[in-house]
Amino acid sequence: MVKVAIVYSTGHGHTLTVAEHIQKGASAFAGVQVELMRIIPEQIGANGRWFDGAIMESLAAADAIVFGAPTYMGSMHGLFKLFLEHAFAPWMGQEWKDKIGAGFTNSSSRSGDKLIALEQLAIFGAQMNMIWVGVGDQPGGNYSASQNSDVNLSGSWLGLATQSIGDAAPEDSPHAGDRLTAERFGRRVARTTARWMLGAQAFPAQPVSAAETRRRNIAGVEEWRRFDD
Ligand SMILES: Cc1cc2nc3c(=O)[nH]c(=O)nc-3n(C[C@H](O)[C@H](O)[C@H](O)COP(=O)(O)O)c2cc1C
Repeated sequence: MVKVAIVYSTGHGHTLTVAEHIQKGASAFAGVQVELMRIIPEQIGANGRWFDGAIMESLAAADAIVFGAPTYMGSMHGLFKLFLEHAFAPWMGQEWKDKIGAGFTNSSSRSGDKLIALEQLAIFGAQMNMIWVGVGDQPGGNYSASQNSDVNLSGSWLGLATQSIGDAAPEDSPHAGDRLTAERFGRRVARTTARWMLGAQAFPAQPVSAAETRRRNIAGVEEWRRFDD
């Protein structure tokens, strides 16, 4: 069984709608179990730091993690950033190394500077040494017969970028094309993870912690050569 975790935040529910469609697409792929987890303000402690042990446990057990947050003021929702900063803990041990990673964001404008949020998520994935998966669909919306319901209307590759109209309810927006793009993105993440996991048994992840990296660096080049990771 391949495990895909979707972890997201939302202020008003539109990003949840996107997350649910990613979940729908991923769940439809045979042999894939999908868990949807929400980052909420109640998980922030008195010290201003995010923590939720159950979520971190589920993420540790996942083969793939899809990260999603709305775009607020031209970058990622601040609440979600607090969650990412807590992932300094698994970063230390490189515990998410070689998991599949993917990201999505939603905002009310067609562009809305969403790319910044996707870049934040992808850079985070790189720091965790995850294997980043992009959208996988060619762009819509760029030819004379284009419609609002085109798949990948925003023409985004780094991660899924959807639009929800500011005064529309989460049940009605994002539109049908973006919802279908989200489902296709979910299926792509599930399929890529299944494909990756087949090889993972033969070639398991080889995390090297920050502490071990420092130890080897201090010991010198010959110490590094003793390992094949
Ligand atoms: C504080 C705030 C800042 C926002 N900044 C942007 C922005 O920079 N670009 C944009 O296109 N939309 C922006 N929006 C609109 C939201 O991205 C949009 O309403 C989105 O659907 C919110 O998703 P949610 O319902 O999951 O919270 C902003 C909304 C809020 C409340």
